[in-house]
Amino acid sequence: MTTLGNMKVHEITRDYGIDGLSITERNIPSLSARQVLVRLDAVSLNYRDLLIIKGIGRWRPPAGRVPLSDGVGTIVETGSEVQQLTLNDRVAGLFFPNWKEGAVTTEKTHDPLGGPTRDGVLQEYVMFEEDQVVKVPSYLTPAEAATLPCAALTAWNALIEKGKIHPGKTVLIQGTGGVALFAAQFSLISGAQVILLSSSDEKLERARELGISQLINYKKTVNWEKAVLDMTGGKGVDHIVEIVGGNNVDRSISALAPNGLISQIGVIDGLKGEIEISKLMPKEGMVQGVQVGSREMFLRMNQAITLTQLHPVVHKIYPLSAIKEALTELEQGNHYGKICISAERNQ
Ligand SMILES: NC(=O)c1ccc[n+]([C@@H]2O[C@H](COP(=O)([O-])OP(=O)(O)OC[C@H]3O[C@@H](n4cnc5c(N)ncnc54)[C@H](OP(=O)(O)O)[C@@H]3O)[C@@H](O)[C@H]2O)c1
Repeated sequence: MTTLGNMKVHEITRDYGIDGLSITERNIPSLSARQVLVRLDAVSLNYRDLLIIKGIGRWRPPAGRVPLSDGVGTIVETGSEVQQLTLNDRVAGLFFPNWKEGAVTTEKTHDPLGGPTRDGVLQEYVMFEEDQVVKVPSYLTPAEAATLPCAALTAWNALIEKGKIHPGKTVLIQGTGGVALFAAQFSLISGAQVILLSSSDEKLERARELGISQLINYKKTVNWEKAVLDMTGGKGVDHIVEIVGGNNVDRSISALAPNGLISQIGVIDGLKGEIEISKLMPKEGMVQGVQVGSREMFLRMNQAITLTQLHPVVHKIYPLSAIKEALTELEQGNHYGKICISAERNQ
């Protein structure tokens, strides 16, 4: 039984929206034998968190739900039968707590962290089953490590687990947000050639510093799919990380190489889109949905991150007291990489 008392929790209220978030107190949960208690050190924001906090469509949670899927913390208590973890281990929770291994099923993905049915990590302490967390690479800062559970794993699953990219392959990445920059980094460490789209010349220049030389401003180059074809000698790209969704998928099909793969990840341009399916057939192109990833994928990703000493791109770290400002910055879309929040704690 824990004796830690109360903790502060951010809840979504009936008002929804960023201003509808409120701070309340709850009891720190008591552990059962196979559980661990994690004290959160940092969290990171995803586009999805806005959909949940605003209560949009299928993302709408009941009032009282704690938002955010991505956080990293320190184990401060372990249940009596916990075997793989110990006090002071630094861990992150799984986006899909029930997806440990193997292919996706509806059972494995029905209850995501910080979603309509399960509280997330915008709280001081979170209780997890031992196998619902993974240890994070020790050289990363808490804010860097807090970016891994959703954005990084989604990019990893799309490109490495499903896409099996390798030197000689070309990858088109849309934007410079969280998923996009992890996709860029994983492509680069795999030796693939990257073409990156952004609305901002300044962000494209920063992407150049990552090692990407084929850059397109999609606001200025309105027909970016033609520019992609030109850059690839008319062939198109082998893999497209589809961040935008909606009608943008049709444009991606135009930019796809024969036998290419579009990883359908994002919904920024809407949940529905009109596509000309006849363009896919002569290319034998594929469009494959991606849903974050499993625990075993997370472990493999952490191995690669550690081997390459990769550092996630962190746009800014806000204090917890500025959570609403951080969410507003995410909403405005001017960020480059991940927006993180650091827990304020009297050490
Ligand atoms: N399926 C999954 O498992 C999964 C997992 C994670 C995220 N997602 C989804 O993926 C999307 C991105 O998430 P995120 O957290 O990475 O978002 P984010 O950090 O807010 O990044 C969004 C970025 O998209 C770029 N963008 C917007 N419109 C664009 C366009 N027309 N063409 C090219 N780029 C465009 C912008 O880049 P610039 O500012 O450079 O223009 C923007 O920064 C969201 O829809 C999210 O819900 C899905």
